Amino acid sequence: MVNPNIRIVPERDVAAAARLARANPGQGVAAIYNQAGAGYAAYADGDPHQLFAFDGPHAYADRCLWEVLDAKLVALRAAGRCEIRILDAGCGPGTWLRRLVTRAHSLGFSRISARGFDIAGAQVERARLLSRDLSDLPEVALTFEVADLCDRLPENDKSVDLTICLYSVLSHLEVIRLPWIARELARVTRGFFVATVRPIGSPPSVFVDTVENAQQFRQDNILDRCRVELCDGRCFTMNIHLFSASELRGYFAHDFEIETLRGLDLFHSRFALDPRWNPLVPALADDQFDSELSRIEDAYGASPRFMEHAAHLLLVAHRPVATSERWAS
Ligand SMILES: C[S@@+](CC[C@H](N)C(=O)[O-])C[C@H]1O[C@@H](n2cnc3c(N)ncnc32)[C@H](O)[C@@H]1O
Repeated sequence: MVNPNIRIVPERDVAAAARLARANPGQGVAAIYNQAGAGYAAYADGDPHQLFAFDGPHAYADRCLWEVLDAKLVALRAAGRCEIRILDAGCGPGTWLRRLVTRAHSLGFSRISARGFDIAGAQVERARLLSRDLSDLPEVALTFEVADLCDRLPENDKSVDLTICLYSVLSHLEVIRLPWIARELARVTRGFFVATVRPIGSPPSVFVDTVENAQQFRQDNILDRCRVELCDGRCFTMNIHLFSASELRGYFAHDFEIETLRGLDLFHSRFALDPRWNPLVPALADDQFDSELSRIEDAYGASPRFMEHAAHLLLVAHRPVATSERWAS
């Protein structure tokens, strides 16, 4: 009997998608994220209705990343800033920008301007739907738009206090474009810049779903292309570039001062219990073990020998401007 949930993609559609991906990598990626489905937001960032639960498959990395982002908001507010402008490049379903706007509001910023954009229209649509409550707040001007990071950004020079580009947006771009894109992100940023990408030694990912839901995948690191066949019959080929730490630093060091370059999640995912193998081993899942893992994450995350083996590489940077200029409202 045919399972009605499984959609077999006709061979001609696969070929057409592959042609589109080759001719225009941006549109190829957009098509893939447009078809990612309603469950994608929860897979990517945790329950989209519980913004601060950090309960998704990437929970440990998400919590570490949030600590970094939260600290930047707190620092701006503590320095007396009342207004803030935030930009999320490749926002996906918008969860991170919603987190930032929610927190900025609770910190008492009186004017919060925030723009998220993504090349995938379905993701932007989802972000808009999920953010309606925030957009209604009088202090908040929040927009989500369809746009390509390879195009010039509409923001003015040095107008953004916090620019984020999270979870592999940069990994989907053509390497040849990265120097220009890094300069463009720097041009509009007057405050902080935070990005994560997939490093060269990271465990595999198929980006739109868990690796377990992939029947097979093959990453070609010469062409930066990954061919994926999901268990539900979807097949696609997408641009994926894996970064070395020095390469990532190289793109941004010209215009930013790098505060942090480190691996995120070297040990937590690898030590996580797999319920398909051994579902009930509470003795192995205690808090002490968890805090030991965090201790070794701290010890090895910034180690040059280890950081490229993490699930993500985290780069935190700021524009090297005079203090008075940076904190001026
Ligand atoms: C793994 S998702 C991460 C989404 C979001 N940053 C998050 O953390 O939830 C990568 C996103 O990059 C977007 N993307 C890829 N290439 C892009 C481009 N050229 N311009 C804008 N967005 C792009 C994809 O559509 C996708 O939503």
